[in-house]
Amino acid sequence: MKKIGIITTGGDCSGLNTTIQRILTGATKRGWQVWGILDGTDGLYVNPPAAVLLNDMLLPIENSRLAGSFLHNGRATALNFETAAEQGKTKQFNAHLKKSLKSLELDALILIGGNGSVSLAWANKNLYQDLQLICIPKTIDMDMPLTERTIGFDTAVQQLTTFCDQLLLTARSHHRWFVVQAMGRDCGQLALHAGIASGASAILIPEIKFDTNNLINHIKNTTTDYGLIMVSEGISLRGHSGRPADMISRKLSAAGILNRTAFPEHIQRSGDTVATDRILATRFADCALKAIENNETYVITTLDCNEVFTVSLSEFISAGECVSDPKIPALMTSNAYVSPDDPLLDVAHNMGIYIGETKK
Ligand code: F6P
Repeated sequence: MKKIGIITTGGDCSGLNTTIQRILTGATKRGWQVWGILDGTDGLYVNPPAAVLLNDMLLPIENSRLAGSFLHNGRATALNFETAAEQGKTKQFNAHLKKSLKSLELDALILIGGNGSVSLAWANKNLYQDLQLICIPKTIDMDMPLTERTIGFDTAVQQLTTFCDQLLLTARSHHRWFVVQAMGRDCGQLALHAGIASGASAILIPEIKFDTNNLINHIKNTTTDYGLIMVSEGISLRGHSGRPADMISRKLSAAGILNRTAFPEHIQRSGDTVATDRILATRFADCALKAIENNETYVITTLDCNEVFTVSLSEFISAGECVSDPKIPALMTSNAYVSPDDPLLDVAHNMGIYIGETKK
């Protein structure tokens, strides 16, 4: 019988509980035990480690659609890899984590995390040398390399789209525009996808340069006097500070375009997990369990051309290295970000959506 652990680290997103529940189901079928480590690395930085033996009663299937992590993602105030390094406590912190992992006597650990968590796991890989480390990618930002989808992205797109659907009704009643600020950090995938899904008239993302005058002309020339302008939180406007949606809103107001801003914020990380995220979570869970059976370690599950498989963490880390793109001189980017050749940009352009200055 194997004994495996699951840990959820970094920001939450919808789909974490489905992943945990599917790992439990697949592991139980194999006769394995599954331990959930609570609160990310916080749960390993206490003595004894905070871990619970999972079973169907603790995470029933009907609750696996709920957002958040049943295991929690950790406290912002707790010591973690980054703050330990800042405070010169890395040695002590890592020694504690290693001791906790040893005391749990795990054969394998499945880490469900984003870029930051996976990079930190790789940077501190000695911690996991006595067990198998399998990672599963999750984030609403979809900024992780080598995978066409991350858990939580599709639900975030749906959440943001639903939010915009509601705004459009009041926008129409008052003949005005809404500037909606999407999450995503410096990656425009979420804004681009939700912008297209909700029928936005303009989508501004960090990867594509835009011109405010051209945006204003575009809005003035649309056939409607209301609509949505989707703005990624990662865009910037020279000479302006503050929230990007506010900056764009001020420019529109100055040009006489009646508008309001809207900030869906963490609603994008919430919401019942949509079917495609649940299917992805199930496929990644299955892939992670197979990787354990195959004695793999230091790997991450990925989706490519509808195939799910593992790649080594070293390959993942080098693919994610930021490079500067000559077409986007102001931004360092990796292959996970929106490429200037992304077919969705073409579609948006053909639909008359203002997406910036790369397409004429
Ligand atoms: O990385 C996920 C994310 O939701 C980003 O899109 C966003 O910028 C950030 O986390 C928000 O973090 P916090 O929950 O700490 O405010």
